[in-house]
Amino acid sequence: MLEKEIILKIEKAAQGGDGFSHLQDGRACFVQGALPGETVLAKITNNGKDFAKAITLKVLEKNPLRETPRCPFYERCGGCSLQHASLSLQISMAREAICDTFRRFAHITLPENFPIHFGNPWEYRNRIRVLKAKDAFGFREGASHHIIPVASKCKVLVPALQKFLESKEALSLKTKELQVFENGNGAVSYFYKGMSQKEFLEKANTSVEIAGKKIYTDASVFFQSNLSLLPVLVKRVKEVTEVNTLLVDLFSGVGFFAALLEDSFEKIVAVERDANCLRLANKNLKASATFVSEPAEDWLEKNIVSNDVSLIVDPPRTGLPQSALKALCKSALSRLIYVSCNPVTLARDVSLLAKNGFTLDLLEGFAFYPQTPHLEMLAVLRR
Ligand SMILES: C[S@@+](CC[C@H](N)C(=O)[O-])C[C@H]1O[C@@H](n2cnc3c(N)ncnc32)[C@H](O)[C@@H]1O
Repeated sequence: MLEKEIILKIEKAAQGGDGFSHLQDGRACFVQGALPGETVLAKITNNGKDFAKAITLKVLEKNPLRETPRCPFYERCGGCSLQHASLSLQISMAREAICDTFRRFAHITLPENFPIHFGNPWEYRNRIRVLKAKDAFGFREGASHHIIPVASKCKVLVPALQKFLESKEALSLKTKELQVFENGNGAVSYFYKGMSQKEFLEKANTSVEIAGKKIYTDASVFFQSNLSLLPVLVKRVKEVTEVNTLLVDLFSGVGFFAALLEDSFEKIVAVERDANCLRLANKNLKASATFVSEPAEDWLEKNIVSNDVSLIVDPPRTGLPQSALKALCKSALSRLIYVSCNPVTLARDVSLLAKNGFTLDLLEGFAFYPQTPHLEMLAVLRR
């Protein structure tokens, strides 16, 4: 059946942005490039036992919210795989896929219209890692080693980053890989492995102004990459955080959420594995705050959390480590604020927490990465 061309009716959006359909034999089929409600001519590319994958060859009946992709490298670069859908369709697709994911993984029925906050669909991205081809920076073509030298033309990058990537300063750097960050105010900083300490201090260090607070960061560490929508997430996190004796910010990066919330708390603990964040967290957090550079799961296991702690977790895409989840379930914690960049691992973690008495009180999305299937989420759990 491989390579076979078939006509498929797309039933809904799947997690990851593909269209979802069924083959005649009942197997699920994930169709790249197809949108909900469309009828497409597709080619099967992967014919698994339980499900198949296909790519769209031709749209026979199109969704009225289909758009012509803006980027000429759309099908090669693979970075912004949803450019063929309008922003409003991207958001309704994400909502549908997340409802499905929570139903399947956590047996939770989300409100069909749960909020998804959004901002600019283009020129929003403030942080990027790029690779050097001969005389330009670019991105990998799909999963290959080939670099398409188009980073300065990337339409989701903020204009200051596009401009920097074609500047003499950037192009003269002797590196194959560069991390670049724009602070929301036009200032570009960068980091590459092997840069001298002097160059690091001059070129990598920077600061960002968010919700009236100056946060120090640098281009080598994690920082949220949609700075125009970030204040909305910060506002919601502030609104849902109940004030307690102690605030614990787990997976804190440079102490981001702790720095924004610290005025309401007597005691602050920020925990982050990346030791490079320590110098910055010391600048960002008040003198009485404690910054611990160790895995969040180790800290949780040693410090069984009580119910007078306000706890925020913001783990990477992989979600909470098993041992962290176990420690949370064993603790006396009654409320958890979970910021997530991956709805699938969030649903998996919520499922385990729900088996241990937590209920999902609130779930909201933040379209931090338009044109891609990725979404930032805020969840509040209570028991
Ligand atoms: C999604 S970022 C969030 C950072 C921060 N909350 C912010 O908004 O800037 C996740 C952070 O978790 C850190 N990290 C990853 N695994 C970790 C672990 N097991 N324990 C502690 N920190 C970890 C990463 O270095 C990264 O800084």
